[in-house]
Amino acid sequence: MLNSIWMTDLHFVAQGLVHGVDPRKNLSTAIAHINAHYADHQFCIISGDLVNQETTEDYTALEQQLKQLKIPYFPMIGNHDERDLIRSLLPLPENCMAEFIQYSISTDEGLILCLDTHKAGEVEGELCNQRLEWLKNTLDAAQDTPVFIFMHHHPMELGLPMLDSIKLQNGDEFLDLIASYNSVKYLFMGHVHRALSGTMRGIPFSTMSAISFQAPAPVPNWTWDDFTAADEAPAFGVVSIKNADVNIKYTQFSQ
Ligand SMILES: [Fe+2]
Repeated sequence: MLNSIWMTDLHFVAQGLVHGVDPRKNLSTAIAHINAHYADHQFCIISGDLVNQETTEDYTALEQQLKQLKIPYFPMIGNHDERDLIRSLLPLPENCMAEFIQYSISTDEGLILCLDTHKAGEVEGELCNQRLEWLKNTLDAAQDTPVFIFMHHHPMELGLPMLDSIKLQNGDEFLDLIASYNSVKYLFMGHVHRALSGTMRGIPFSTMSAISFQAPAPVPNWTWDDFTAADEAPAFGVVSIKNADVNIKYTQFSQ
């Protein structure tokens, strides 16, 4: 059994609020909860938007706070992040790609892939040929080992008017690739700031509430001009995997 934690969209700032929410306080509460109840879990994956504004000060303060976690953590890149700052200020596994924040984690229950969907200067995401080639080579090498993929940007339309325009732009190319492997068991995605689940090309997926601010409940014809963060509690996922079966316990906590 693999027991782990999944956090996403910290939007950390060293000072101030983001959409009316204090990301330091929310992260601190999450870490205290994890340390109190899940200190025996193997690691925590953080699926992007680590900081809000790509500054050295924010990453430095974030690192100080994340090292309070009693379990190791794996940082991933989102549209609000910057590769060189992540590489220089946060811990990354040795097998991380040289040019991207993309790597794999070997576990007793299979292989976890943490993808880099960042497109510099853009809110939308991309997986360039170099990252897709790494993915294909990694899936080929994994053979029948179960594979679980974490990524920031969603590769498919989710029926959310504002979020579908900032998804992974070459999502179909990515989905065509992974759907050709029976080994891919689950997609975990950040970016949405709200928990959704479903299947795409037969592969189950979930998004997760943010640690920072929450997206409002979806309504038709919504636009970014209407954006006001929802007054809802943040959450993280307690993820257990056994024999390629995935269980995600949605864990809300008070702000
Ligand atoms: Fe975000």
